[in-house]
Amino acid sequence: MTLVQRLLNTRPDNLSDHDFLSLLTAAGDLQQELFQAACAIRREFAGDAVILRGVIEISNICTKGCDYCAMRSTNSHLHRYVMTSEEILGLAQQIKQAGIGTVFLQGGQNPRVDTILRQIIPVIKSDLQMQVLLCLGERSAETFAEYVQLGANSYILKFETSSPRLYQALAHAPLENRLQNIRWAQEVGLQVGTGNIVGLPEQSLQCLVDDIRLGINIKPDFISSSPFIPSTNTPLHQHPHGNLNLTLNTMAIWRITLRTPTIPAVSALEILQPGGQQQGLNAGANVLTINFTPKETQSLYKIYTEQRFVVSLDHAMQTIADAGLAVYQTF
Ligand code: 5AD
Repeated sequence: MTLVQRLLNTRPDNLSDHDFLSLLTAAGDLQQELFQAACAIRREFAGDAVILRGVIEISNICTKGCDYCAMRSTNSHLHRYVMTSEEILGLAQQIKQAGIGTVFLQGGQNPRVDTILRQIIPVIKSDLQMQVLLCLGERSAETFAEYVQLGANSYILKFETSSPRLYQALAHAPLENRLQNIRWAQEVGLQVGTGNIVGLPEQSLQCLVDDIRLGINIKPDFISSSPFIPSTNTPLHQHPHGNLNLTLNTMAIWRITLRTPTIPAVSALEILQPGGQQQGLNAGANVLTINFTPKETQSLYKIYTEQRFVVSLDHAMQTIADAGLAVYQTF
């Protein structure tokens, strides 16, 4: 049996770290075999259609201070904003008109946006009849329960790295708090997305193998792997970007071991290389997130870098066609 066949047929617990290391660093024929297996599993368990989401970046105010992120609270070079309810609902309408079924509300970790969420989630859910996906950082168990009451369907909280030491050093908070948040979100019935960043300082290949195992153990509904992108006005602005192949291989391994989850081809792949998101789809991904944040605001949402790649509907459609896939029709 080849290593990829073993990945397909063996419980992940029964694969050694050495097996995962070989798959994580797969190149050439082994990598092609890994990607083909990932696409076959996607076809069988998730269908071959790519899901579209529309993201609205509702605020760049964040109380955390993660060294990799330009929205960190101590970055005084960033003009901070919070969108109004009217603005967000107008953009949600545009997402619906584009034929997209999920509104993805993303923002920094800031409990003050909860007042706005109380107004808009029920409208997006009941009046617009759309799915609501949130990515707003760490919250309390009570707040996650309230989001469900309001009508939210899902929540993304990446664990970023499985190393407690590395997480503490970069995010200045305990990893355990974040993992607890993920469990709370799952317990109240939200579909939960998580994931890692590839290419953080002092992150060894063994750390990435541990990330793969943690991702599997969380049993998420969505999971992403993103390359690290150096951001201006952060302590890591001179650190090199993450490796594309390690990221793609991680995505393919998660597709094969977890089978059903929604796996996005994140925009950071496209920053590393034009066509990077198409490579993500070829590695087993099945979702693209289209940006509906107005142009003036986009430049303030510095999740990655000065030169962030803003995914348009046209770019997404072209990427899907180039990958030989179809769009998942929600309406
Ligand atoms: N490179 C890659 N991913 C990043 N994120 C934030 N900054 C960066 C960066 N410089 C990711 C984190 C966070 C998500 C919203 O964005 O994983 O959870």
